[in-house]
Amino acid sequence: MKKSIITFIQLNILILSVLFTLFSCKNKPSKEIVQSPEKQLDFSKGFQLLESNCFACHSPKTTLENRIAPPMAAIKEYYITEGVTQEQFTQNLLNFIENPNEENSKIPSAIERFGVMPKMNFSPKQVKQIADYIYNSKLEEPDWYENHFHHEKYIHLENLKNEDISYKDLGLKYAMNTKSVLGKNLIVAIKNKGTEEAVAFCNTRAFNIVDSAGVALNTKIKRVSDFPRNAANNANSTELSYILNGKKTIENGGKMKPLVQEINEKMVGYYPILTNNMCMQCHGTPNTQVLPATLTKIKQLYPTDKATGYGENELRGIWVIEMDKK
Ligand code: HEC
Ligand code: HEC
Repeated sequence: MKKSIITFIQLNILILSVLFTLFSCKNKPSKEIVQSPEKQLDFSKGFQLLESNCFACHSPKTTLENRIAPPMAAIKEYYITEGVTQEQFTQNLLNFIENPNEENSKIPSAIERFGVMPKMNFSPKQVKQIADYIYNSKLEEPDWYENHFHHEKYIHLENLKNEDISYKDLGLKYAMNTKSVLGKNLIVAIKNKGTEEAVAFCNTRAFNIVDSAGVALNTKIKRVSDFPRNAANNANSTELSYILNGKKTIENGGKMKPLVQEINEKMVGYYPILTNNMCMQCHGTPNTQVLPATLTKIKQLYPTDKATGYGENELRGIWVIEMDKK
C-alpha cells in the first residue's frame, strides 16, 4: 500500500516536471540541460571517455549480429531502475569496472552471451564522469548520438571563434583522434581474436590507420620510440632528445608536457604516449605479462623487437605530428 502511494506521488512529480519542461522551454530551441561551465566540461569529458574507451564494444550503432557487448542504453536500463540515485549508480558502476566478475554483475545473461568484460584501468574520477554522462543524457533516444555530436561541435566552434586554436592544441587533437581510432580497433581485435592474433593486427593495420588518419587530416602523423618494436618507428635525434627529457621529468615526479618546434617550415608537435594496464599483455614483462605464445608471435614478426619490459605509466613512445604553417 505504502509503495503504491509513493509511486503515485512520483508519477505526479513526473507529469508535473514534464509539463513544466514543455512549457518553460517554449522559447529555447536547445534540448540540453543548462549547466555551469565546470559541470558542462565534466559532462563533455564523460562523453569523450565513453566514446574512446567504451563504444568500441558498447557501440550505440552496431547491428544485433555484430555485437560483442550490450549497447550502453541497454546497460543503463538494468542499472538505473526506478529510484536509483546518481550516487548509487556511480557506486555500482565503480564496483563493476574495478572488478568485472559475476558477483558484481547486474546482467548475468550478458556474461553468458558475451563473456565477462575485460578489466581496464580507470581512475574513480573518470568513472564518475562516465556515470554522470550516462545518468543524465538520453541514451535511449534513437538520435541522441547525432544530437550530442551537433552539440559538441557547436561548443567547439564557439571556442574557436574566441581564440585561434594553437598548433599545440591542433596537434594534440590530431594525436588523440588517431589514438582513439587505433585504440578502438586494437581493443576489438583483442576481444574478437585474442592477444596473439591482435599482434598480427598491429603489424598489418596499425601503420595504415595512423597513416590514413594523417592523410585525411592533411598532416603527417607517426608514433616513434627509443625502444621500438618495429625498427621503422625508431626515434631520430630530435625526437630522442624530447623522449629523454620527458623520461627525466617523469622520474623526478613531474608531468611530461607537449612540445611544438618549427622544423623546415613545418610546425612539428610532440606528445607523450604512456602505458596502461592494457598494454602490458604485449609490452610488459616477458613470459609473465606477455605470454609465451604472444612472445613467439612478436619475435616472428619483429626479430629486433625492443619493446617489452615496460611497467604501467611509463613512456612507451611519442606521437609526432607534422603540420603545415597557417
Ligand atoms: C573490450 C570490450 C569492452 C569494452 C572496451 C568495455 N566493455 Fe563493458 N562490457 C563488455 C562485455 C563483453 C560486457 C558483457 C558481459 C559482462 O557483463 O561482463 C560488458 C558489460 C558492461 C556492463 C554491465 C556489467 C554487468 O554485467 O552488470 C557495464 C556497466 C559496462 N560494461 C560498462 C563499461 C564501461 C563504462 C566501459 C568503458 C569505460 C566499458 N564497459 C568498456 C565489454 C567491454
Ligand atoms: C596486441 C598487442 C599489443 C598491445 C595490447 C599494444 N601494443 Fe603497442 N605495438 C604492438 C605491435 C605489434 C607494434 C608494432 C606495430 C608496427 O609494426 O608498426 C606496436 C607498436 C607500438 C608503438 C610504436 C613504436 C614501436 O615500438 O614500434 C607504440 C608507441 C605502442 N605500440 C604503444 C602501445 C601502448 C601505449 C599500448 C597500450 C595502450 C600498446 N601499445 C598496446 C602490439 C601491441
